[in-house]
Amino acid sequence: MKKGNVLVGQSGGPTAVINSSLAGVFKTAMDRGFHKVYGMRYGIQGFLDEQYVDLSDYIKNELDLELLKRTPSAFLGTCRFKLPAIHEDKEIYERIFELLQKMDIEVFVYIGGNDSMDTIKKLSDYAILTGATQRFIGCPKTIDNDLALTDHTPGYGSAAKYIGTSTKEIIRDCLGFSYKKKNVTIIEVMGRNAGWLTGATALSKGEDCDGPDMIYLPEVVFDVEKFTNQVERLLKKKDVVVVAVSEGIKNKEGTYICQLTAGSDSTDAFGHIQMTGTASYLANYIHEKLGCKTRAVEFSTLQRAASHLASRIDVNEAFMVGGAAIKAADEGTSGVMVVIDRLSDDPYQSSTGVYDVHRIANGEKFVPREWINKEGNYVTNEFISYVKPLIQGDYAPMLVDGLPRHLTMNATGYKDVYGK
Ligand code: F6P
Repeated sequence: MKKGNVLVGQSGGPTAVINSSLAGVFKTAMDRGFHKVYGMRYGIQGFLDEQYVDLSDYIKNELDLELLKRTPSAFLGTCRFKLPAIHEDKEIYERIFELLQKMDIEVFVYIGGNDSMDTIKKLSDYAILTGATQRFIGCPKTIDNDLALTDHTPGYGSAAKYIGTSTKEIIRDCLGFSYKKKNVTIIEVMGRNAGWLTGATALSKGEDCDGPDMIYLPEVVFDVEKFTNQVERLLKKKDVVVVAVSEGIKNKEGTYICQLTAGSDSTDAFGHIQMTGTASYLANYIHEKLGCKTRAVEFSTLQRAASHLASRIDVNEAFMVGGAAIKAADEGTSGVMVVIDRLSDDPYQSSTGVYDVHRIANGEKFVPREWINKEGNYVTNEFISYVKPLIQGDYAPMLVDGLPRHLTMNATGYKDVYGK
């Protein structure tokens, strides 16, 4: 029987390998005989404005596919858009399903994190309610690694590799200035309420580097005074102190430390506040209290865009989950998210499975308390053993004039939407 079309979108914060999943969706859909693969521009939000592209206009050969796998950020554009509940706004669902019908879409794949899985959940529920035949599959992605039921998420390994590497480089830089001069550097890492990324700063510890002195995850309540005392004690013993903190650390009142600063009051459609400024707040605080030189380093978007330092394992798994999403849909499944199962650590091996998206959407998976030390200021060896296999290998960028080449729709990425 002739197959219809696939529609794929990217949603939420991007990663260094999100486009490798897009490449996996495209390649597997073509191999399995689907007619066309359309890409939503800016996720479901752009799709509602009928913004989409035919991916074969951009991926014409193996080289394009390889460039796409090495391109950070969302090639198609992304969004943070919350679909209303079905009973709140039936019209929006009618509009989406009309468009799907018009475009002969058989399979809808959404590459995203916990908020984006809410979209898959609602669309697959609506399809069941109305007897629509399209299949809806979630393809996991997030540097935060906070999705339930999957061993880890594509995007995490590469971000962890970047974070481990950059932490090591920052520590070396600090040590170079340590002659008769005390300095404290505070590194701020993304991850919202989960400390998977912040814990990855411990990867820097090894034969040639001591790693950060302390690591604070959001899973443990943060006490500014206690922290200051710990830094003071360390400064009595050494000249250079490097600390990693998660953007999501909170005090015992439940206030994010970043909210103690001015300028972090913007929220997204899911009610998440924009977290920024934790490191600079603490660096200023330490400077005021202890009088030493301090510096705040916020990895910010670099940690999710550093495709030049992507992990080979991560790039390949991202591609694999994209392919598994198409395979699951082709076999008649809907309302699920693809998960990664770890089969072994040494040699590292993994495979894919699927889980009901209702069990994943909107949830958060945290670092187990037993993977954080008793004092709540470092991760344990179990944590390191978990993350280490995920950062292995590289996926060398294709350099043109000395810089990595990316696949783009056009220089700005805006042309087809705004006609500029
Ligand atoms: O969810 C991924 C993530 O990178 C989080 O770690 C971070 O808090 C958030 O996105 C930042 O989002 P935005 O770029 O929309 O401010």
